[in-house]
Amino acid sequence: MNEVNKKLLDKYIESVEKQLLTITQNKPELQSVVVQAMEYSLMAGGKRLRPVLMLEFYRMCGGKDADSILDIACSIELIHTFSLIHDDMPCMDDDDYRRGKPSCHKAFPESIALLAGDALNTLAFEVISNSALEGRITAEKAVMLISVLSKAVGVEGMIGGQVIDLMSEGKQIDIETLNQLQSCKTGALIEAACVMGVILSGKFEMIPFAADYASAMGRAFQIVDDLLDVNGTFEELGKPIGSDSEQNKCTYVSLLGIDRSKQIAAQLTMQALGHLSRFENNGFLCELTDDMLSRRN
Ligand code: IPE
Ligand code: IPE
Ligand code: MG
Ligand code: MG
Ligand code: MG
Repeated sequence: MNEVNKKLLDKYIESVEKQLLTITQNKPELQSVVVQAMEYSLMAGGKRLRPVLMLEFYRMCGGKDADSILDIACSIELIHTFSLIHDDMPCMDDDDYRRGKPSCHKAFPESIALLAGDALNTLAFEVISNSALEGRITAEKAVMLISVLSKAVGVEGMIGGQVIDLMSEGKQIDIETLNQLQSCKTGALIEAACVMGVILSGKFEMIPFAADYASAMGRAFQIVDDLLDVNGTFEELGKPIGSDSEQNKCTYVSLLGIDRSKQIAAQLTMQALGHLSRFENNGFLCELTDDMLSRRN
């Protein structure tokens, strides 16, 4: 990534992490253990890709006041972190490490990890509605954002994808089912991030183009995740490798092999870059999209 773009990425990540620190503050003492679990997973690091996508689509669509929407950008990271806490639990992927640290259910009792995930889920929607109540966004935008995000989390989105993922364990599924699995479990939140950025900018006519980009980019992103599970290292990823084969998951790699998966991820990245040509000032996101293909974490 060139120096200017790297600076912008660092600035995005720094402001998101600063904002994340404020979101869980001032919660009651008696239930502080669940807040500690939420903060533990939220502040463990991570690429912060989804908030960055939201802020960048806002900027590309002419949004000028990024500070006023930082809390909304964080709302998607709250949801993403909730999905990771639950994804790692023994009843799901049973993974002991996440973001280079013991998974939430390893650092806290399993019951508290479960509840921390639940609390992060509802907190995201509290953050969006508070933004409207406090006058930073209009009530109409808040309803649009809640509509997009709730659908992306639910049975037609991430949760639905996780269900297909679990039901497909140990089976030979067809490529259409695999595409649906991946579009739901990973693509839906990535699409929500991009579309929410456009909604916040008010340039609603660009929503379909943001969705097209996200659909291609989200699939490429999950294929790279599946490849890294085979050819990454624990040190790079901060999460266990070989988890997918251990759990008999259906992935691009298990279905089509490493080389074909790499080809498809590259094709999808090209498609995503094509969709970005509809947007002005797209230099940063073109470079970030390209970098996601060769990422090592
Ligand atoms: C991991 O997401 C789970 C998937 C949907 C592939 P990320 O790779 O974005 O994880 P973090 O946020 O950087 O830890
Ligand atoms: C998880 O997919 C997607 C989520 C909804 C969290 P994976 O199970 O492949 O994610 P990792 O590899 O554990 O991060
Ligand atoms: Mg999983
Ligand atoms: Mg997993
Ligand atoms: Mg994975």
